[in-house]
Amino acid sequence: MGKPSSRSGTFKQGLAVVSATGHLRLGVNVDHVATVRNARGGAHPDPVRAALLAAEAGADGITAHLREDRRHISDGDIERLMSQLRVPLNLEMAATDEMLKIALRYKPHAVCLVPEKREERTTEGGLDVAGQHNHLAPYVRELAGAGIRVSLFIEAELSQLDASKSLGAPVVELHTGLYCETPVGPARAKQLKRLEVAAAHAAKIGLECHAGHGLGFDTVEPIAAIPTLAELNIGHFLVGEAIFVGFAPAIARMRAIMDAARAGLST
Ligand code: PXP
Repeated sequence: MGKPSSRSGTFKQGLAVVSATGHLRLGVNVDHVATVRNARGGAHPDPVRAALLAAEAGADGITAHLREDRRHISDGDIERLMSQLRVPLNLEMAATDEMLKIALRYKPHAVCLVPEKREERTTEGGLDVAGQHNHLAPYVRELAGAGIRVSLFIEAELSQLDASKSLGAPVVELHTGLYCETPVGPARAKQLKRLEVAAAHAAKIGLECHAGHGLGFDTVEPIAAIPTLAELNIGHFLVGEAIFVGFAPAIARMRAIMDAARAGLST
């Protein structure tokens, strides 16, 4: 996400240079602030207020997923995020004509294309970039043509990375859900290895690599220590933890764990 400009919609960034000691960006996802708001149909708690607070607390950017069914973030939230945020907005969306129109209207700093199924509780898997090349290609082209940085949310599979590269997307985000859900032990270690190998491959083929989904204080450290990752996107855990310690302290602690993992790389 990098250095913010006066308005997220006008923020631009070239390919990030990522080094072992480089700053690992934290994108805070505010979807579930909207989930709580929508439970009562009113205006409180406001995800835009949460986003502004997150930026003050150390978030490098804000992520919001505008779903087809608008179950949490609304179109109005995106409009207000675009006008009020002073850090970049990463809009998560499905590759549909409706969402493309919205992205082209608001022109957020970044769009992360995700698979979306109506009946799922959350984004369950990565995009099948290899299998959906022809469907995704025009979306990547149009978004990139409008100056939006496009990322593709994928499983940590080399074939998906190669397909993302051939599609012309500059960024991929690796799905960390399976790693987070796997009990600690050899099976978790295997999932971590899979992510490490994928992140190394991304750097090798010239893709900026992000990661996210399901991360919390107990799972983030080994992920933050992967040297070729440039950004983590974290939401549900932080919003949940805010109930106990407050949103800003939860973000600050996440930031500290990430920074310590990065500092470990340089020693
Ligand atoms: N990255 C992507 C692409 C996502 O779809 C989500 C969930 O909206 C996240 C990151 C954040 O996941 P979580 O809310 O579990 O931290």
